[in-house]
Amino acid sequence: MKSQFEVYLRLKPSNNQSQNSMQYQLYHNKRLQVLLPRNVKLGMINNNRDNLEFNFTHVFDQKSSQDQVFSKVTVPVINSFLDGYNATIFAYGQTGSGKTYTMSGAETWQLRGVIPRTLSYIFDEIDKRTKFQYKIYISFMEIYNENAYDLLEKRHLEIPLEQWNKIALYEDDQDNIHLRDLSIHSCNNEQEGIDLLMMGNFIRQVSSTPMNQSSSRSHCIFTVTLEGCDTTTETYFVSKLHLVDLAGSERISKSQVEGNLLNEAKYINLSLTYLEQVIIALNERMKGANRQHIPYRNSLMTTLLKDSLGGNCKTVMIATISSENDNLEETFSTLRFSQRVGQLENEIRRNEKVDLEAVVKRLEQEKLVLIRELEQYQRSGTVNSNNKKPQTQQQILPQQNGMPLNKKQIQEKVELYLNEQVTQLDVQSYDDAQMCFEAMKDLYNIRMKEYVTELTFISEKLQKYDEILTRKKEQSSFLEQKENSSPENEIYKRNEFQQINSKQKPNQ
Ligand SMILES: Nc1ncnc2c1ncn2[C@@H]1O[C@H](COP(=O)(O)OP(=O)(O)OP(=O)(O)O)[C@@H](O)[C@H]1O
Ligand SMILES: [Mg+2]
Repeated sequence: MKSQFEVYLRLKPSNNQSQNSMQYQLYHNKRLQVLLPRNVKLGMINNNRDNLEFNFTHVFDQKSSQDQVFSKVTVPVINSFLDGYNATIFAYGQTGSGKTYTMSGAETWQLRGVIPRTLSYIFDEIDKRTKFQYKIYISFMEIYNENAYDLLEKRHLEIPLEQWNKIALYEDDQDNIHLRDLSIHSCNNEQEGIDLLMMGNFIRQVSSTPMNQSSSRSHCIFTVTLEGCDTTTETYFVSKLHLVDLAGSERISKSQVEGNLLNEAKYINLSLTYLEQVIIALNERMKGANRQHIPYRNSLMTTLLKDSLGGNCKTVMIATISSENDNLEETFSTLRFSQRVGQLENEIRRNEKVDLEAVVKRLEQEKLVLIRELEQYQRSGTVNSNNKKPQTQQQILPQQNGMPLNKKQIQEKVELYLNEQVTQLDVQSYDDAQMCFEAMKDLYNIRMKEYVTELTFISEKLQKYDEILTRKKEQSSFLEQKENSSPENEIYKRNEFQQINSKQKPNQ
């Protein structure tokens, strides 16, 4: 199934409403027209034009609330994630434009961002989806100066960033990326998820060293992994949701930074440049250019987000921009980048697997029940008479209060007698006896018909079960052979990977 990238724009409230604000028009909350100030010299911008236009899935103006952003952008993505599709939401924009505000939020609960709201929503939804069983896992990592670190490793609270273990990446034969030294935490409820998020953010903040003076200079990836099971079909699925807060795109000339900060800025710019190159390459390939190579491996971030950018993933970008003319150059750079991203599409599929063993087991049990039922029919020759004990020992007379009973009443009495709910059937006259025999004959005919129908139904069902069981068993052995080569079954192989990882030396 094709999934077009969705690109949302969020404008940060302006600090300076009167003089320096960016002049713009918003049409239907989808099209942004930015008016170019006359005196502005914007390198790549054509100065003959007095405005530039950009299209988005939706534009959130300066008054938009955290809740509005969450409901519009995130809810459909999480629903698809809960159905078994991979998803990524990433925030991109200039330093200070509101990426962290959008993804994590501000200090108060009311101002919480996409990530904590996502956790609440996931657990609320799980409670509602009663025919599914879910397991949720969380990991949280930071990419800083082209190295990736685990933000949920408690030891990192005690040692400086320079001594942290770096997460190692390696690719398997099918080009799937695997990570070593990234912890995965089982999460049973919203609170546990929030605790993990807070712990990660805290570790990120306390890791500030001379080399990392501001946590905003790293990219952050909060990943929720889901293992789901549709209990009605024994279908298992695994999906991943990456919530990404990128470091700010910022021009070195403007930030006038030196030393380590310059180093950081170079790395940030480089990885964002590589991100742009990947997007350009994907765009060219989509437009039919003979472009086989997509330069994912140029940076750690693009390698890690390979699937989000050009693979099996529903991807959404939230571009954040400032509303001041001073930042117009960066704003246009973000807007142009977002237009390229908006043209991309991914081919997505549900990462599912039927648990054939469970299906076979269930079918075999059902078959046993049917065989037992069939045997009982063959023994008793009656319908619904099994397990019925006489409820009363009283005599039932075909006469009540001296009045002769009609045919229907006699039939009812006879039925009770045949079902062994009464032990005797007394008759007063030859006519009564005749009527009783007639009723017995009718009931016998009806039951025989029901019996034959039921027997036919059971034997047809048994035949079908045999066919299904044979097919499932064949598929089962076929899939067992194929299983190891299926990338989306990663979760089933996780234990295996962990074992391999613990034996394998990292590819640094
Ligand atoms: N939509 C908004 N409404 C109110 N305040 C905002 C909004 N967006 C950002 N801010 C505030 O602006 C400041 C900078 O925002 P934030 O830290 O989210 O920027 P950033 O894009 O993550 O920057 P960096 O690239 O440096 O990480 C914060 O104090 C934040 O609370
Ligand atoms: Mg930030």
